[in-house]
Amino acid sequence: MTQDELKTLVGQAALQYVKAGSIVGVGTGSTVNKFIDALAGMKGQIAGAVSSSLASTERLQALGIKVFDATEVDELDVYIDGADEIDHAGFMIKGGGAALTREKIVAAQSRQFICIADESKLVQTLGKFPVPVEVIPMAARRIARQFAVLGGTATLRLKGAQPLVTDNGQHILDVTGLTISDPLGFETQVNQWPGVVTVGVFALQKAHVCLLGAPGGVKTLVF
Ligand code: A5P
Repeated sequence: MTQDELKTLVGQAALQYVKAGSIVGVGTGSTVNKFIDALAGMKGQIAGAVSSSLASTERLQALGIKVFDATEVDELDVYIDGADEIDHAGFMIKGGGAALTREKIVAAQSRQFICIADESKLVQTLGKFPVPVEVIPMAARRIARQFAVLGGTATLRLKGAQPLVTDNGQHILDVTGLTISDPLGFETQVNQWPGVVTVGVFALQKAHVCLLGAPGGVKTLVF
């Protein structure tokens, strides 16, 4: 099976977590796009979605799924999203698609985080994938120096020749060279640096379940 087929498989499998009549938390990325496409098949049975990015909002609306603002809803049953890396405890690196801040917000608003990923995303220790960090632009240089103290190399994410600007009007640093053996400690530490909007390590908002696409079918990991 190709990676794309594995993504389709887990995107469809995630439908089992969607309750009739509910508002669904929807993440961002190529795997979630498969979930959104599958969700369109049951749009008559759900109230709608809260989205984690402008890109997912556009896709949901194009398929006729109502998108609520996060401020219109108290709590969501489930949040369904992909990951760039996930470990055996459900801790993740996210933000490869630059949507990490809204992803963490919607995840925090949801009772259960269902991660959907192909098996290439499962790792022993987080850190091989560059850690995305959304920052206030004026703090970027200083935050890069703080990562250097930890042994990391931070690079400003570009779009063409210009810094990429997130849905929140901020910039992204991608940090390589880190081995994150204590995701919760790492997230807590970096969260405290002035100018950090969101660090792309999801330990406080970890996954509760991961639907992992493998050639033999979907494996369900419960954390
Ligand atoms: C978006 O910002 C990310 O957190 C995505 O959830 C993550 O990059 C996974 O994306 P893919 O499903 O495209 O691999």
